[in-house]
Amino acid sequence: MVCESNNKSYLKSQNLKIIGRSTLRGEVKISGAKNSALVLLAASLLTDEKIILDNVPLLTDVEKMSNILKNLGVKLQTKDHQLIIDSTNISIKELPYELVNGLRASFFCIGALLARFGEASIPLPGGCNIGKRPINEHINGLNALGAEIIIEKEIVKAKIKEEKSRLYGANIRLNCPSVGATETLIMAASLAQGRTVIENAAREPEIQDLCQMLNKMGAKIYDAGKEKIIIDGVKKLHGCSHKVIPDRIEAGTFLIAAAATSSSITVSPVIPNHLEAVLNKLEESGSKIIKKGNSISINGKSIKAVDIKTAPFPGFPTDLQAPFMALMTIAKGSSKISETIFENRMNHVELLNQMGGSIIVKNNIAQIIGVKKLRGMTLVGSDLRSSAALIIAALISNRVSRVYGLEHLDRGYENFELKLSHLGVNITREKNIKIKDVSNDRKTDSIKKNLSDINKAA
Ligand code: UD1
Repeated sequence: MVCESNNKSYLKSQNLKIIGRSTLRGEVKISGAKNSALVLLAASLLTDEKIILDNVPLLTDVEKMSNILKNLGVKLQTKDHQLIIDSTNISIKELPYELVNGLRASFFCIGALLARFGEASIPLPGGCNIGKRPINEHINGLNALGAEIIIEKEIVKAKIKEEKSRLYGANIRLNCPSVGATETLIMAASLAQGRTVIENAAREPEIQDLCQMLNKMGAKIYDAGKEKIIIDGVKKLHGCSHKVIPDRIEAGTFLIAAAATSSSITVSPVIPNHLEAVLNKLEESGSKIIKKGNSISINGKSIKAVDIKTAPFPGFPTDLQAPFMALMTIAKGSSKISETIFENRMNHVELLNQMGGSIIVKNNIAQIIGVKKLRGMTLVGSDLRSSAALIIAALISNRVSRVYGLEHLDRGYENFELKLSHLGVNITREKNIKIKDVSNDRKTDSIKKNLSDINKAA
């Protein structure tokens, strides 16, 4: 793997230098989906046979999940984008907080471990920069499947009720269609005794990918991708080979970047219907979209303001809300962006405004009045998708920008700057330099603090 996330100061001492007023041209190869790869790694714990995963993206999040599996005794062989996962000899022990911290998807291992070994112990994933992120849906569902769960000193301890040796099927209705809870419960129910029905299930493509791999392993899952999923539990699951689906969020980010810079690019491979809601909004805002097989081409034109409201799939993905807001800052007219999934996912607004944007946020609804141009400046990303939004804003702007906080970006975008540079963007990763002069930029206290942390780490 190329990731170097183990060295904590490594990423904090880097930044991307981006020359603004960029135009993008050419093709981008889209990597495997981060959110699929993470849950497929967790699902590999369900069998003692080998799983061969192809098209695994090289990301620090995937590296973290791999380290969690290794800590349990899983043998992992990596070759380029292929992972061979062997969970034959694993020992059930409490996962250390340092490994789980910062990777919410690590909690998704609970369902697989519980179903295969009858017990699991995982530290609470906690909140993150985008909100509280509770786990009540996971816990309630596992309870319904026959698990006893206690939370002691921030550790979630789950075990199958004493008189039973397996989880048992149940009817579960989720209060909200949580992606992670749906995945946890599908994995747990795959090895349960009898039938489980999950209603109000999440329908995201990554869930369909998980079910496809589990069915190859011998699971009996019906109607993945629908609001009601049925799982007939089996006694054992086997090894298989599986290819991770393309990352719809990475593809969407590049398409939005092209729209924002009035550029023409093609993204592939993609599954176009995974991006339907995003493509509709891009077309509505003036871009020309051509879908052909497993590729999407965009021809960015003048940008019209459009409203978006994030929603569970097939609605507009919350993961593309920040990049789309960067696009709307320079749209003609005023737009409204409503974030309905996460409580604190507008961290990019303050910086977009400092770049010259005109955005007011109230109750998770952003009112944006399009401006003619943005100014480049020093920026610090505070979460994965807002970092991507800041890079898009830097591409649009009329000066040089330096984007810090790359530890967030590298969690979820494989070789982002290399891909942009292949599209003709003048972008370089600067390493181990101190920020000398940012006096021209207006800085808030939080940005000043981030910059001072970066300088300490550099
Ligand atoms: C996954 C994705 C993330 C995406 C999100 C929503 C992964 C690794 N991450 O995160 O990129 O932004 O889906 O599409 O796949 N909730 C509860 N109780 C719970 C669980 C969730 O109230 O037990 C709420 C959350 O607070 C949030 C909403 O449900 O408001 C959606 O969260 P969820 O779908 O669970 O997100 P993740 O699976 O964590």
